[in-house]
Amino acid sequence: MSKGPFYITTPIYYPSDKLHIGHSYCTTAADAMARYKRLQGYDVMFLTGTDEHGQKIEDKAKEAGVTPKQFVDSIVEGPSGVKALWKLMNISNDRFIRTTDDYHVEAIQKIFRKMYEKGDIYKGVYKGKYCKPCESFWTESQLVDGCCPDCGRPVVDAEEEAYFFRLSKYADRVQHLLEDTDFLQPRSRVNEMVNNFIKPGLEDLCVSRTSFNWGIPVDFDPGHVVYVWVDALFNYVTALGFDNDRYHDYDKFWPADVHFVGKEIVRFHSIIWPAMLMSMELPLPKHVFGHGWLLIDGGKMSKSKGNVVDPYILAEHYGVDALRFFLLRTFPFGSDGNFSNEALISTINTDLANDLGNLVSRSLSMIDKYFGGTIPAVRQAEPIDEELIAVINGARAEYEKEMDAFALQNGLAAVFKVLDRANKYIDETAPWILGKEEAKRDRLASVLYNLTEAIRVSAILLTPFMPDTADKILAMLECSGCHNTWEEAQYLVRCEPVTVHKGENLFPRLDVEKELAYLEAERAARFGKQPEQPAAEKPADKQPEKPEGVASIIDIAEFQKVNLRVAQVTACEPVPKADKLLRLTLDDGTAEGRQVVSGIAPWYKPEDLVGKKLVIVANLKPAKLRGVLSQGMILAADPGDGSANVLFVDESVPVGSKVR
Ligand code: MSP
Repeated sequence: MSKGPFYITTPIYYPSDKLHIGHSYCTTAADAMARYKRLQGYDVMFLTGTDEHGQKIEDKAKEAGVTPKQFVDSIVEGPSGVKALWKLMNISNDRFIRTTDDYHVEAIQKIFRKMYEKGDIYKGVYKGKYCKPCESFWTESQLVDGCCPDCGRPVVDAEEEAYFFRLSKYADRVQHLLEDTDFLQPRSRVNEMVNNFIKPGLEDLCVSRTSFNWGIPVDFDPGHVVYVWVDALFNYVTALGFDNDRYHDYDKFWPADVHFVGKEIVRFHSIIWPAMLMSMELPLPKHVFGHGWLLIDGGKMSKSKGNVVDPYILAEHYGVDALRFFLLRTFPFGSDGNFSNEALISTINTDLANDLGNLVSRSLSMIDKYFGGTIPAVRQAEPIDEELIAVINGARAEYEKEMDAFALQNGLAAVFKVLDRANKYIDETAPWILGKEEAKRDRLASVLYNLTEAIRVSAILLTPFMPDTADKILAMLECSGCHNTWEEAQYLVRCEPVTVHKGENLFPRLDVEKELAYLEAERAARFGKQPEQPAAEKPADKQPEKPEGVASIIDIAEFQKVNLRVAQVTACEPVPKADKLLRLTLDDGTAEGRQVVSGIAPWYKPEDLVGKKLVIVANLKPAKLRGVLSQGMILAADPGDGSANVLFVDESVPVGSKVR
């Protein structure tokens, strides 16, 4: 019998064929939640989709020489698009919305008109800053160092006739929602929203654009398209049939139980979204959960940095369940987590090969060895069993409490308490000793039965995280008369013979060194070594150290091929859309001078460099970085942490001096 509806959503993704493991994080977590609720007997609606409008898409389509619709179709439905990634990750979404779907377009027009007729949307002139990559408008005061506070990239001036949404009108209600309810989670995100966005004064939000076409037209004012975030946020209700006839689930599933979103889009979901729902007089979602980011070496992963982690490589090699498990077991869902291949391999070895895989294979091997695969129907209880049974029986409630608080990592920890206890129980009861004495056969049967119960209950609770593995384990423990439901995630006393089928080793132990080498080789084969960071970027590179020896020794003639010169920085500025790059204009003693692009922006501001003298490699083959010509590189020291310390030269040394 259904326990009622449960509605969970992920953000809808921008169409991209450059998806990395970070993109899988939120949807994998939402999938585990959806499967957990289904396991409990809820009638689940799990929604995901794609966010397909906006200037960025229009620009990219133009570059590709196709229409925006052709462009998004090719990506969304393509072999490395978002649908393919969800298939790979075994995502069980019930619905997939594309914001270019007719029913959504039609509904957004109605919604926009309703807010306009109510007086919550009005016409004015927009003057301010716009971040194209984020499709976000900002006021001057919100910028950080003159750049977009979300992505750090440069913003552009924007001025045009536009419609505005009266966000200011809802400021008090939204503040109350954030501060006095558990709407936004984890709680730590509340202060950031209130202090950074609401307290400084919520300004009305620009909700239409006229400078491009690829968006949903405002039907009563042609020439305006609806701001992409208004279009995107309402997907959560249009996908249920709100203001359209395609679906009819709105009354059943709205308000959503939870929206899972990445931390950088919490502002949209916890301020703008509730305010617009208030305007529409619709119920608010019960929760928004802002999860952390998967980082690499503490920084963002991106293709241009050459550090993206490809989910396809990992899933093909380790299996999708191991990957899903790793993501949700290793990082607390509300915080940032540092992805590393070492951590992945270590989690597979420790949790999956040792604790889970070994428990299953040891227990089933002993059942095979001592009882030919069928545990006889004798159950002989001893006090030592009680502790194990108590842990088995305590797991479900603890797991439920954690999962209901969206603490997926702790939900898994509750299962691992059972696995750990069961492994300890094997050592305590030493079945191999019981197996030596005929008189202990009944006791041996009971011990092995208890182990199968620990495994069975754990497998049920692991189903949301590793659906295929859990199914495999449950199939190994033939359980006639039980259904492995949520209710049966408890120690059952079954007084019939229990037959098991030992299968393949679930998670063979990995050789760490071999695996690391394999992953690096795969990464290099697909993405190359440090793309976008040619020689000019060396200081920031983490090149593996060459072993001391013949290979790393060069003779003086080779060194002399490198033309090192002193140059002075006459101007310096950030390279647009490249958060690591600076463009330096240099006086190198020649009439023309030169410009060099260098990946030192994380450590130097342009004003730190202007006027300084430094050393350049003057005869390096010119290269283009983010489309900007770089004629050489500047020298910097890396103390071993990947940072760059530019080698400055005393002011008295004339520009153009040779360094030798
Ligand atoms: N289209 C908007 C969402 C609109 S929802 C009404 C968007 N799309 S996105 O494709 O840029 O991002 C989708 C999700 O991926 C976001 O929640 C974002 O936080 C998440 N992630 C992208 N990179 C990530 C990591 N490295 N780590 C974890 N999640 C990250 O934003």
